[in-house]
Amino acid sequence: MIDLYSRKIDYIRVSLTDRCNMRCVYCMPEYGIEKMCHSDVLSYEDMYKLLKTLNRAGIKKVKITGGEPFVRRDAIKFIEKLKSDSSFEKVTVTTNGMLLDKYVDELIKMKIDGINISLDSLKEDRYKKLTRGADLKVVLKNIKYILESGYGNLKINTVLMDGINSDEILDFATLVRGNKISLRFIELMPIGEARDFIPVSREQVLKTLISEFGELKPINKNLGNGPAEYITFKNFKGNIGFIDAVNHKFCRDCNRIRMDSRGNIKFCLQYDIGIGTEDYLSGKISEDEFLKKLNMRICDKPLENNFSSESVGKFTMNQIGG
Ligand code: GTP
Ligand code: 5AD
Ligand code: SF4
Repeated sequence: MIDLYSRKIDYIRVSLTDRCNMRCVYCMPEYGIEKMCHSDVLSYEDMYKLLKTLNRAGIKKVKITGGEPFVRRDAIKFIEKLKSDSSFEKVTVTTNGMLLDKYVDELIKMKIDGINISLDSLKEDRYKKLTRGADLKVVLKNIKYILESGYGNLKINTVLMDGINSDEILDFATLVRGNKISLRFIELMPIGEARDFIPVSREQVLKTLISEFGELKPINKNLGNGPAEYITFKNFKGNIGFIDAVNHKFCRDCNRIRMDSRGNIKFCLQYDIGIGTEDYLSGKISEDEFLKKLNMRICDKPLENNFSSESVGKFTMNQIGG
C-alpha cells in the first residue's frame, strides 16, 4: 500500500482493548474511561480476518497494543496465532509489563519479535503516583527475568515530564549502560490528560547525557518498525532512542496505520481519519471491494501531525494504542 506521499505502509498497530490495569496520569483520568460495550469489541476471529486481508494489501508487521493488551482474555493466544502465521514478518507487543510474569515464557518461546515495556520512573513511590497504584517491583522483576533469559529485543518506553520525572534521565541511562536494552525517551504528545504536563525535549535530554557520558555515537540503523532514532555512548551495552512526534516530526517516513478494538482503521495517531470495517466483516462488501475502498481512502492519510491545530481527534491515548 502506497499513499499519496509515496510512503509505503507495511505496519499496523492493533489495539486489542482500550482497557488498562493502570491509570497513568498523562493517559487516563483517575476514574478511568467509560467502558466499551462488550459487543462493540471486535472478536479475535474478525481481527485476524482483517489482518489477513490487510496483509494482502502489504501490511507485514503487526504491533499489539492496548490500553494494556494483556488485560484482554486470550491476548497471548491471539499473538501466538499471528506469530505462527509466516505471512506476518514481525509481530511485536507493547505493554505496561505488569502482567508479563504470566506470559513472558510463552512470548519468548514463540520468538516474539519485540517486547516494549512502558516505564516512567525507577522510584517506587513516584511510579505508584504516576500509574495511580501500580507496583514498580513487579515490573522490574519482569524486566530482570526477560534480560536473564537472554531475550534480545527488549525496549523500554519512558515518557519524560518536566518537574515530574525529568530528574531520572541519568538513572534510566545507567540502566542502558549495563544492560542490552533499548531505552526510548518519548516526547509527551499533547493528547487528552497529557496536556496538563510539560514535555522534555530531546535537546534537554542530550545535554544531560553528554555532560555525564561524553560524546554520543549515533546508530544509523532502524532498530524496529517504529519512528525512534537511536544513539549510544562509549562502554554502553544498550542504546537510547528518541521518539519526538512534536519537535522532530517523523511523519514523512510514516509506514503505519492503526486498528482500534472496534475494528476501525485509523490513518494517523492524531486525526480521526480512516475507515470502518463493518460492511466488510458483515459480508456486505467483498474483500476486493474493501481493499479497493482502502486503497482509495489511504489518500486521506495526512502528510503530518499538527498538535497545535484545532483538528485533533476525539480519542484518548488508551483507545488509540499509542
Ligand atoms: P518498535 O520500535 O518497532 O517496537 O515500534 P514503536 O516504537 O512504534 O512501538 P511502541 O508501541 O513502543 O511506541 C512507542 C511510542 O511511539 C509511543 O508513544 C507511540 O505513541 C509512538 N508512536 C508510534 N507510532 C507513532 C506515530 O505514527 N505517530 C506518533 N505521533 N507517535 C507514534
Ligand atoms: N505522549 C507520548 N507517549 C504516550 N504514551 C501514552 N500517552 C502518551 C502521550 N500523550 C506512551 C505510553 C506507552 C506508549 C505505547 O505510548 O507511555 O509507552
Ligand atoms: Fe495504561 Fe499505557 Fe495508558 Fe498507562 S499509558 S494508563 S499503562 S494505556
